[in-house]
Amino acid sequence: MTSAQDIRPRKDDLAAQAQYFSTSPNASFHSPSSHGSALTRTIPLPNAKHLKPFATEDIKVLLLENVNQTGRDILSQQGYQVEFLKSSLPEDQLIEKIRDVHVIGIRSKTKLSARVLKEAKNLIVIGCFCIGTNQVDLQYAADHGIAVFNSPFSNSRSVAELVIAEIIVLARQLGDRSNEMHAGTWNKVSNGCWEIRGKTLGIIGYGHIGAQLSVLAESMGLSVIFYDVVNLMALGSARQVDSMEAFLSEADFVSCHVPELPETKGMIGAKQFEQMKKGSYLINASRGTVVDIPALIDAMRSGKLAGAALDVYPNEPAGNGDYFNSELNSWGADLRSLKNLILSPHIGGSTEEAQSAIGVEVAQALTRYVNEGTTLGAVNLPEVALRSLTMDEPDHARVIYIHQNIPGVLRKVNEIIGDHNVDKQMTDSRGDVAYLMADISNVNTTQIKDLYTSLESLPSRIQTRILY
Ligand SMILES: NC(=O)c1ccc[n+]([C@@H]2O[C@H](COP(=O)([O-])OP(=O)(O)OC[C@H]3O[C@@H](n4cnc5c(N)ncnc54)[C@H](O)[C@@H]3O)[C@@H](O)[C@H]2O)c1
Repeated sequence: MTSAQDIRPRKDDLAAQAQYFSTSPNASFHSPSSHGSALTRTIPLPNAKHLKPFATEDIKVLLLENVNQTGRDILSQQGYQVEFLKSSLPEDQLIEKIRDVHVIGIRSKTKLSARVLKEAKNLIVIGCFCIGTNQVDLQYAADHGIAVFNSPFSNSRSVAELVIAEIIVLARQLGDRSNEMHAGTWNKVSNGCWEIRGKTLGIIGYGHIGAQLSVLAESMGLSVIFYDVVNLMALGSARQVDSMEAFLSEADFVSCHVPELPETKGMIGAKQFEQMKKGSYLINASRGTVVDIPALIDAMRSGKLAGAALDVYPNEPAGNGDYFNSELNSWGADLRSLKNLILSPHIGGSTEEAQSAIGVEVAQALTRYVNEGTTLGAVNLPEVALRSLTMDEPDHARVIYIHQNIPGVLRKVNEIIGDHNVDKQMTDSRGDVAYLMADISNVNTTQIKDLYTSLESLPSRIQTRILY
């Protein structure tokens, strides 16, 4: 699809940009997700050579749904042709536009179905400037060599800050006092209202959000314990507790920060509420399925819990409006009737800062993919990266061969590139699709074109790109 051409110097320095976004401080050593892999620590060399698949002005980018300015700026600064639209497009218009572009940036409203992607003959990469990727047919994209990136961790700090606020609001029954004042009632009470200093916060899931919360909570005078399936380095004076029962019996506040998995479904239910301290508090800003809501309602009514905060629900409406009712979730009315229960509409990560960080993270992933072929953080392709080529390696080229994961492919590819010196090579597979990246030396433009043609003619080929 893309042919090899001369490159010109890039207008800015990707490595410099990379410094103004960083993931959670502990991301590199303990998250079980791919973001914690050694690959994420691949740091561009200072004299890294700037690779391009073809002249930058030929890269066409379509950004829909008012993608944040930070992301738009990074892509424009690359010299790409960036078209920006504030809204999503009806499917027919989307199909017209997508035929032409190499890169598309969307948020949650644009549906990139197989029908739409079938028309996207030039598309090499999709950026979801949001957390979820349900709106994209990931398998179709992978099968056609289209990488998909998102931004799962840019809002970790926003969630952690919301939880800190909720801890104080619950301890002081502030939600109820505010509701009463809105109804014209003056109700000055101190009974059952507490400082948080010296209390114990129990964090379930010590990942990106849990670890941020741990640091913030200690600075507010809370003691922190955490429970996680992985053995983790505790931050500050936090302490990992191995047994869930011991953990629950020690915490004054329990806050859930686990992913949605079969093992985490209903992980806080009647038995766990029983094990919690009388008068303790529960916070769930993770996923709606993690807490058994009818059991929570019972624990609140019996006085076992002194309060709770929910930001997420098993069923959430698709848009804003009058939808938080018993039709959506059968226990909706029971929940709304409870005292000292904070209900928020999945806003844990909804801040201006998170949007801006998402813009940077996704735009950088797109740029790295287009310019260097790196798939770190891709949600539908294997994660492959090689250290950068340097300015001291003028006659080198980077071969990227996305192919079907079937026996015998590597032998055929190596027959093609094997006449050159292969300085470094990496290949990995994910399901039916494999991604090979190799840096080869002593190649001239004619040889690069021959390599490209030979690789494109292999029956296993999904997509070939050569960068130099
Ligand atoms: N409310 C919001 O707006 C909002 C925003 C962002 C993320 N989230 C949700 O917050 C949750 C945490 O996100 P994160 O970025 O910190 O995730 P993460 O992947 O960085 O961390 C999750 C942690 O949970 C641990 N874990 C997994 N299974 C477990 C189990 N059964 N028991 C105990 N620990 C377990 C993992 O080992 C990991 O340390 C996710 O569910 C995410 O969807 C919500």
